[in-house]
Amino acid sequence: MTTPRAPFSPSLICGVRSVHIGVTQFENTIEFFKQGWGLTAANVDDGSVHLRGTGPDAYVVALQQRARMEILCVDLRAWDKAAVDVLHARLAAAGASDLSAPANIAEYGGGYGFTVRDPEGRLLRILAGDHRHADTQDAIDRPRKISHVVLNTSDAPTVETFYTQTLGFKLVDRSRRITFLNCNSDHHSVALVPGSHTSLHHIAFEVPTFDALMRGVGRLREYGVNIAWGVGRHGPGDNIFSYFVGPECLPLEYTTEVQQIDETYRVGSPEDWTPQPGRMDQWGATPPPSPDMVKAERSVEFSSEPF
Ligand SMILES: [Fe+2]
Repeated sequence: MTTPRAPFSPSLICGVRSVHIGVTQFENTIEFFKQGWGLTAANVDDGSVHLRGTGPDAYVVALQQRARMEILCVDLRAWDKAAVDVLHARLAAAGASDLSAPANIAEYGGGYGFTVRDPEGRLLRILAGDHRHADTQDAIDRPRKISHVVLNTSDAPTVETFYTQTLGFKLVDRSRRITFLNCNSDHHSVALVPGSHTSLHHIAFEVPTFDALMRGVGRLREYGVNIAWGVGRHGPGDNIFSYFVGPECLPLEYTTEVQQIDETYRVGSPEDWTPQPGRMDQWGATPPPSPDMVKAERSVEFSSEPF
């Protein structure tokens, strides 16, 4: 059963640009993302490194040395500076937590933006006018960009309302376990997993093709990191996936062939996304996630400290 989707209008947010991660094994994690995951260093500061994919984003991962593995901030790009101001006013009116004033960003990548916490305390930075790389040639085995971020939530109604009503994401599909939210032509950029945890579920990186995904799988295997779930094809989003447990239980995904949608897409309900018995994806070729993957999808929390 489907329900009509609201008339398509792009959200003021146009995608997940980057994720800031605090790690205890700073050098090892940099090497993992460079040698294993296929990112390159765009900027190195005292105590932090910014790593880019092959797309235009200034960086997709920023790492800092911390006392424990934790997500420090998720950067969401708005369409332009005017959209940043509109979102700031909307968040102020909604009484959002820890809302900073819009300002020029001094950190590598620049731009204009502000930070705010979602209702469960995850720090978000909303920005526009940031640096875009001109050299954006796809590579045969490297990620382009962050595709999506999936969050575990223990208060799904409140969190869903914040991301949809306040930030303007569109509900695009609801499966038995996951609520998918859309802000551009990609099927989803944020998704919520209702449950008992308030933490990261996983971060997905888009690679250009199925072949690139498999070459990435091979490079990671040679690096010493094996597939923790996949290779498979999801139902909602129709994307091909392969999941990995990164350093310090960091849950990561390579994905490709994400369904591109427009105003004609109809919001799906759990009845639309009932897999065949014994399967967790369309192909049925992969066993379920490994115990380590299941653990990783519940183990990385968001920092409550200032960014
Ligand atoms: Fe995913």
